[in-house]
Amino acid sequence: MLAGKAAAATTSFCSLQATLLTLAILTLLSFTYFSLNSSILHSHPLSPLNHHHLLPATIPEDHVNTTTTTTVDDHHQQLSDIYHSPKVFGLNFADMEANFKVYIYPDGDPNTFYQTPRKLTGKYASEGYFFQNIRESRFRTLDPDQAHLFFIPISCHKMRGKGTSYENMTIIVQNYVESLISKYPYWNRTLGADHFFVTCHDVGVRATEGFPLLVKNSIRVVCSPSYDVGFIPHKDVALPQVLQPFALPAGGNDLENRTKLGFWAGHRNSKIRVILARVWENDTELDISNNRINRAIGPLVYQKRFYSTKFCICPGGSQVNSARIADSIHYGCVPVILSNYYDLPFNDILDWHKFAVVLKEHDVYRLKQILKDIADTEFVALHKNLVKVQKHFQWNSPPIRYDAFHMVMYELWLRRHVIKY
Ligand SMILES: *[C@@H]1O[C@H](CO)[C@@H](O)[C@H](O)[C@H]1NC(C)=O
Ligand SMILES: *[C@@H]1O[C@H](CO)[C@@H](O)[C@H](O)[C@H]1NC(C)=O
Ligand SMILES: *[C@@H]1O[C@H](CO)[C@@H](O)[C@H](O)[C@H]1NC(C)=O
Ligand SMILES: *[C@@H]1O[C@H](CO)[C@@H](O)[C@H](O)[C@H]1NC(C)=O
Ligand SMILES: *[C@@H]1O[C@H](CO)[C@@H](O)[C@H](O)[C@H]1NC(C)=O
Ligand SMILES: *[C@@H]1O[C@H](CO)[C@@H](O)[C@H](O)[C@H]1NC(C)=O
Repeated sequence: MLAGKAAAATTSFCSLQATLLTLAILTLLSFTYFSLNSSILHSHPLSPLNHHHLLPATIPEDHVNTTTTTTVDDHHQQLSDIYHSPKVFGLNFADMEANFKVYIYPDGDPNTFYQTPRKLTGKYASEGYFFQNIRESRFRTLDPDQAHLFFIPISCHKMRGKGTSYENMTIIVQNYVESLISKYPYWNRTLGADHFFVTCHDVGVRATEGFPLLVKNSIRVVCSPSYDVGFIPHKDVALPQVLQPFALPAGGNDLENRTKLGFWAGHRNSKIRVILARVWENDTELDISNNRINRAIGPLVYQKRFYSTKFCICPGGSQVNSARIADSIHYGCVPVILSNYYDLPFNDILDWHKFAVVLKEHDVYRLKQILKDIADTEFVALHKNLVKVQKHFQWNSPPIRYDAFHMVMYELWLRRHVIKY
């Protein structure tokens, strides 16, 4: 009896001990685990994986100039949500400002197709601004030995202004580039890989076709960054198309007036536009007009619609590009991109999903439900971010930091590694 009791006591003592021991081991293990977890995270804040994520493959680390970190940090702290990698952008942007040099070939009469812009207004103004800005900027060098890239200053918009046919344009571009090749040693070093060409008119993209190396090797900065017309995303650069000047001031903190769900008015000059108009023309929540708004209705009626709408539909036209995207951004109406095979401007820098709705053409049938499913809080966030990106789609003369010109230069800067002399 006694022995039994003692045995029982021992057993329970033993099991208590075992429990305590198990607990102790568990505690120890979990401490080890936790400290391991935190030591992994804290002693190596940039594990190889993270580090890689911060620096895109196109930007070798040694090109990031760390001495300029502090000057750009504040700016990017505040805007971090609209960039894929705010830190990388900030560091490289500062490095670009300090170091990037472009040589402009001096050949060609400014009174014909060369050197200077045709004009800084209209829907091809982006080309004009680039031609103007590059000359006024800190990036121009008169010393080709200092240059990272070479600009071929021939303007297709000027040719257009003089009524040049597409066939002749192709020949003029070809003859001009060939004259530069025989006169200067720079093209032959890389077969044009460190050369670039800028055109906003969609005919301009085709005008490069007469000279295959221009298509294959050189950087084409174009307003028609459409994969189905030969845009090569890792090499070429999407130039935003911006109708200038804007008729009305930028939209801002104006949510109270945005009562309409969606808006589009334009020509039915593409398959997607025809479908958009056909499916939604009578809808009471989506304001879809299958024609441009007639100026006779009243002054600036079209532009004012952008102020009163939440989402502005941007379907591709006869060419995929249109000034409608930049208009939406300017007027504070969240753009809804309805397009396939289209490289959105600066999409390797800016996270378009933070300030736009990016859809494929087949989504047109579900368009209203997709927009209605976007919660109010999400819309407010998109709109807030949209206001932050406005400056990246604005042209100025002279150019200012972070404007459209600087963004294009930044894209060129990222492409300078191709080859170096
Ligand atoms: C490890 O750390 C991460 C990040 O701090 C945390 O989310 C996770 O819960 C931790 N895991 C454990 C088991 O503590
Ligand atoms: C980094 O930037 C500073 C200031 O702009 C400049 O003086 C310096 O030469 C740059 N360093 C490198 C390695 O590019
Ligand atoms: C094209 O070039 C040819 C030969 O120089 C010229 O005769 C013709 O007028 C040009 N046409 C246009 C539309 O520029
Ligand atoms: C560049 O190469 C082409 C083709 O081989 C040649 O015709 C041209 O003269 C060369 N340019 C120079 C400046 O040597
Ligand atoms: C909203 O619209 C009214 C009437 O057009 C205008 O007076 C007001 O300034 C607008 N509000 C904002 C924040 O833009
Ligand atoms: C829109 O209304 C017009 C006129 O009533 C009609 O002819 C057309 O079929 C309607 N479209 C749709 C998609 O319902």
